[in-house]
Amino acid sequence: MSSYVTRKTPGNTDWFVADRFGMFIHWGLYSMPARHEWIKTREKISEEKYDKYFKYFNPDMFDAKEWARQAKNAGMKYAVLTTKHHEGFCMFDSKFTDYKCTNTPCGRDLVREYVDAFRAEGIRIGFYYSLIDWHHPEFPIDQIHPRRDDPDAYEKSKDRDMKKYAQYMRDQVTELLTNYGKIDILWFDFSYKKDPKFPDWMKGKGKDEWEAEKLIATARALQPEIIIDNRTEIEQDLWTPEQYQPQKWITHPETGEKVVWEACQTFSGSWGYHRDESTWKSPEMLIQMLINTVSIGGNLLMNVGPTSRGYFDKRAEEALKVYGEWMKYNSRSIYNCTMAEPEFKAPFGCRLTQSNCGKRLYIHLFDYPFKFLELPGFAGKVDYAQFLHDGSELLFREKTPGHFSEGQSSSDDLLVITLPEVKPNVVVPVIELFLK
Ligand code: GLC
Repeated sequence: MSSYVTRKTPGNTDWFVADRFGMFIHWGLYSMPARHEWIKTREKISEEKYDKYFKYFNPDMFDAKEWARQAKNAGMKYAVLTTKHHEGFCMFDSKFTDYKCTNTPCGRDLVREYVDAFRAEGIRIGFYYSLIDWHHPEFPIDQIHPRRDDPDAYEKSKDRDMKKYAQYMRDQVTELLTNYGKIDILWFDFSYKKDPKFPDWMKGKGKDEWEAEKLIATARALQPEIIIDNRTEIEQDLWTPEQYQPQKWITHPETGEKVVWEACQTFSGSWGYHRDESTWKSPEMLIQMLINTVSIGGNLLMNVGPTSRGYFDKRAEEALKVYGEWMKYNSRSIYNCTMAEPEFKAPFGCRLTQSNCGKRLYIHLFDYPFKFLELPGFAGKVDYAQFLHDGSELLFREKTPGHFSEGQSSSDDLLVITLPEVKPNVVVPVIELFLK
């Protein structure tokens, strides 16, 4: 059994840390301008102008079953969809607003279709819900709000009542957690401090403004086991490093305990569909990000930004296929796996994962070595070795390098695996060790 223990959380994360790999989906009106999901505030777009997107939103090619199939083929076990992003537009048929997909030419409850299709594929269901709302009339203007630089910003904002907005969030979370069956994850986004560069009356927003305690209590009363992230500013189940690769298991800043964490990443720089963004990650990087994350005890939530017509564009499809192709043969080193026990040190250019039961160790060859992989400290511990992708035996010897190795003394704990000179046709080949 893995010796790692993580800090206790209120929800049920057992399935989560076994499943390891999920799909984030950022979809909303911002898919139409296709210039990043923060477009409304980045370009300080007026309500009237932004209403054009509402007027014409019509994802006529949306097929949730097709999305679910692609997620499943990629090896993703859970998904998190933006039910509402910062722009405030609701992708579900909420009673508490008119600003929702059912009032656009789309006319469908998109959240409902997502839930039904993904659940049918056996994929767990998550909802992203933005705490920030750049449309709601009671949401006070602040440093990141699209109206921040309007000459009459103060006039517009001064009578806004955050309490009403907090109630609105509770009402919508109640709808989301009542009308769609069992929901596994609730992903709130996000809290921020005041920026001193802006006028004093523009406040930051955090747990007090969101009334986060009540909001979380509302959610837990409806779905006690649900996993909730920490971005309300109240610690719950999930730590969510974003758009960078953590180098070690995330630990609690006060107690130092290991925590349950999930890195969220994009295929290219944007979360929402971005037509002209060109920093798409290479197949190697995509696979390495997944391995890197699991090798230090985390999950990967990889994002897709569907087009406004409702499909995954070619680049996203290709990236998903990269995962699918690799996961088809190598998922055993990901599911039910975690950081290797400290007794096993990763050799140069490699990453390790280990099955939760402790019996299998996986060596991911980021740098494919020439002919021999030397593993100090492994002698006496390995019963059998094979490539994971094709189950072909890998011969090894112990205590001696087994090759003409001037200047390199053999040592008692050394194990050396012989590898074919030609790298197998796998983005990252994996060696599976059956431990004694
Ligand atoms: C950020 C961004 C946002 C994105 C999220 C995903 O907080 O505001 O656009 O949804 O990260 O983690």
